[in-house]
Amino acid sequence: MNLWGGRFESSSSEALAALSRSVVFDWRLAPYEIEVNLIHLANLVQQSIISKEDGLSLRKALIELGQEIDSGKFTFSKEDEDVHSAIERGLTEKCGKLGGAIRAGRSRNDLVVTDFKLYLIDHLLEISSQVVELIKAINYQTKKNFELIAPGFTHTQHAQPISFAHELSKHSHALIRDIDRISDWLKRNSKSAYGSGALAGSPFVPNPQLIASELGFSGVMENSIDAVSDRDFAVEALSCIAILGVHLSRIGEEFVLWSSSEFNWVELSDAYTTGSSIMPQKKNADIAELARGKAGRFIGNLTTLLVVLKGLPFGYNRDLQEDKEPVFDSVEQILLLLPALTGMIESAKFNSENISAKASAGFSLATEIADYLAKKQIPFSEAHEAAGACVRLCEKNGIELHQLSDSQLMQIHPSLTGEIRNLLNVESAVKSRNSSLGTAFDSVRAAVSELDKQISKIESEISNHRKQLSGMIS
Ligand code: ARG
Repeated sequence: MNLWGGRFESSSSEALAALSRSVVFDWRLAPYEIEVNLIHLANLVQQSIISKEDGLSLRKALIELGQEIDSGKFTFSKEDEDVHSAIERGLTEKCGKLGGAIRAGRSRNDLVVTDFKLYLIDHLLEISSQVVELIKAINYQTKKNFELIAPGFTHTQHAQPISFAHELSKHSHALIRDIDRISDWLKRNSKSAYGSGALAGSPFVPNPQLIASELGFSGVMENSIDAVSDRDFAVEALSCIAILGVHLSRIGEEFVLWSSSEFNWVELSDAYTTGSSIMPQKKNADIAELARGKAGRFIGNLTTLLVVLKGLPFGYNRDLQEDKEPVFDSVEQILLLLPALTGMIESAKFNSENISAKASAGFSLATEIADYLAKKQIPFSEAHEAAGACVRLCEKNGIELHQLSDSQLMQIHPSLTGEIRNLLNVESAVKSRNSSLGTAFDSVRAAVSELDKQISKIESEISNHRKQLSGMIS
């Protein structure tokens, strides 16, 4: 069914209908549209555009239609152009011509933005909840490894020893920022476009503030032209997901590496790995690889929408229909990925012996020598040179730093005494970095307990936001 036609002499070509048809993907907005329709209907009755009696029949029909959509009894047909026309058809099938009364005082231009924003609020809250679950899984593993020392890497080369809890919990801190970005999205974008009509506003929606609050929005857009043309909210949502996706890809890469037989730092559970169709011995970290791969898709979706919007004139243009598929795709893919990654991490078994075995390899304690000299007020450039000379001598003689004799040390630098050997162990190196962001065991414990507090706060914020959304959505 089309929502237009009066001024046309002939019917649409099949090619046009096929090209412009969005119902196959925008049907996802149907539950939100029922909610919006119920509130719009009450407003039209209030404005005496629809009589009380007709209002009651339409309300009953809309509620029934909503239930039929939920159960799958009512869905779109081959003739429907978009979710809006499909729902109006459903209403007309139940109430005859009266079904078309709901269209007064609004346009698909403000309707589609309203549905889409409600969809995003609902789904971004779900994404935040899933990120919380992932952080909890990481923290669970972190707490089991507070005192495990691992090699820390820069340039994928041994750099300095670190606490393995520090290594794991870095991801939780990045993921908290992802949740924070979503809360920030909610603060800025929870504004209703309803009452904008086609572009100029609507004579039948005198109080958009009231409708906005009934729909669960925190406010109203200030300008109706901006309200129907703006897709910043969709771009920002795609950007939140793309940044989150990049974080997940880096977690994925780490687990691919750690689960390789070369590293053998972690064993992934059978439930979260796959086999090979030809090599019976294989156990592959496919979830981690998909986490890495899907980031490309999230970035692509963000780019797609930005390119659609670039240079687009204001007021509704049909180009804007291209806003939905990238968003649905990113939302659905991230919601597939998050629980899989959470399960994989929660069920992983870390191999402590292998993790700590090489903590001091690659002369990762050389910085301790430079720092020791710096504390004696030797200029750091000179201290660095001396520590480098120690490494060179060790490499030449096939020994480790703590095996250098007193005279060898002294020869390299007069201030280097045997005392340095007390510092040339991984425990002391880790413990010495004990400021709030450092790798010392107690510093990491304190940072992780701060994370726990933040998570409780986030959980209560998510549930408050959900309450703010109207009945059907929460
Ligand atoms: N299916 C359209 C979309 O998603 C709905 C809005 C259509 N508006 C219009 N003036 N043709 O953008």
